[in-house]
Amino acid sequence: MQGSTKIQIQDVVAPIDRRLYGAFIEQLGRAVYTGIYQPDHPTADSDGFRTDVIDAIKTLNVPLIRYPGGNFLSQYRWEDGIGPKSQRPVRLDLAWRELETNQFGLHEFMRWADKVNAVPNMAVNLGTRGIQAAADLIEYCNFPKGTYLSDLRRQNGAEHPFAIKTWCLGNEMDGPWEIGAKSAGEYAHLANETAKAMRRVDDTLELVACGSSSMDNPTFGNWEETVLDACYDNVDYLSLHRYYGYYNDDDPTELDNFLGKNHDLDDFIKGVVAMCDAVKARKRSTKTINLSFDEWNVWYHSNDADTQVTPWQVGPHLLEDIYNFEDALLIGSLLMTLLRNADRVKIACLAQLVNVIAPIMTDENGGVWRQSIFYPFMQVANYGQGVVLTDHSTSPTYNSREFTDVAYLDTVTTYDAATQTVTVFAENKHQTETLDFELNFGELMIDRLLDATQFYGYDVKADNRDGHMQLQPLPARTDTHHAHTKLQPLSWNVLRFKLRD
Ligand code: AHR
Repeated sequence: MQGSTKIQIQDVVAPIDRRLYGAFIEQLGRAVYTGIYQPDHPTADSDGFRTDVIDAIKTLNVPLIRYPGGNFLSQYRWEDGIGPKSQRPVRLDLAWRELETNQFGLHEFMRWADKVNAVPNMAVNLGTRGIQAAADLIEYCNFPKGTYLSDLRRQNGAEHPFAIKTWCLGNEMDGPWEIGAKSAGEYAHLANETAKAMRRVDDTLELVACGSSSMDNPTFGNWEETVLDACYDNVDYLSLHRYYGYYNDDDPTELDNFLGKNHDLDDFIKGVVAMCDAVKARKRSTKTINLSFDEWNVWYHSNDADTQVTPWQVGPHLLEDIYNFEDALLIGSLLMTLLRNADRVKIACLAQLVNVIAPIMTDENGGVWRQSIFYPFMQVANYGQGVVLTDHSTSPTYNSREFTDVAYLDTVTTYDAATQTVTVFAENKHQTETLDFELNFGELMIDRLLDATQFYGYDVKADNRDGHMQLQPLPARTDTHHAHTKLQPLSWNVLRFKLRD
């Protein structure tokens, strides 16, 4: 099978906003407790943060982390997580039916985010709370000093404002499962009024309104239009959430369908962009609303186990999906889809980061291990820099249960002018055939191949609990204007080239 791509650095989709490689920590399961925070762990620092986990996160190079939820957010009182730890209340978390000790809260998160070199993407509770609690939180975090709440922050150890820029106005407020779920009209009004109040405290904020929590929700479409109609002038982004499952393990054709789910992601993004722009046109606005894809991942492996978890524990094993090799292939493909839509998707958060549907896991022996999905995420977040180039690839296609014309060769190219580096991410979705991959650089001159790796050869159902998965070298040939390689069946590949100045 043959496939090719043309690399044209003048043909730019968009500059890459590094926040596209964000992730998510929710106060849920073992994400925080025994995940990122474990004061009695041998690697814990003076704040109780696990430095072995910090090191793994730094390898991923995550620039932004969404916090504190998620469904958890919609019943959260942020005040519970500040002040002396001994005086913080233990609460029932109704979203996940856990006990929340509040030993990790706002100040701890801000210190921890700094240690992993990430900025926060914070959120206000619009489930059980509203305008006043949100305005108070902005005052506490971002107002310099001289008011009750800003001085309370200073008393609690943070002399300088946190200066948190990006805020979500609630979480999944369209979802019947959400504590304090709302109709589109109810949410739209509350989000707009809350945004107004938050901006009065700090007019530099960037605000994210909740879009639909899934394209499958019956209110999808109507929700987006109602929310944007009300909030257009006071928000900057609309959120999207999408999780993928695998519905029939016994059907061998289902893998083709699973690997085609990037088409669903692309349709979802393009549909929401169309709705944002329809409202823009109707309002005769000059402002463009961009997208924050603030939850995306594969999520289904842990569903059955989660029904057996005893309620009201601290840090239970919840949503602990163990990812296999086919999940890593889909994650690579989804990342490439986000990149191809980088003109409108400015923020995205892999949901989540540690232990809860996560690329990084901690185990009962005190260790840390990397899931299969860690590898494509790490490579895209580290090497996908600069601008995304228009896709000029060709390849045979296939049809699956849900999708038509899925390219066997899924590829995207980025170009970083600062380092004169071209990076090509490429996946072969064919289950048995190798793909001869021709890269045509046109007039551009290749100085050298910096490196080339492939991730392949594992059983699609194999996971990485024993740590056997690793990136391997990818043999490739180059001349001045071309490169050539062979993409193995079911493989994720990355090639990086230095151009001649
Ligand atoms: O990420 C897990 C959960 O998925 C989040 O809490 C919620 O927002 C979504 O339904």
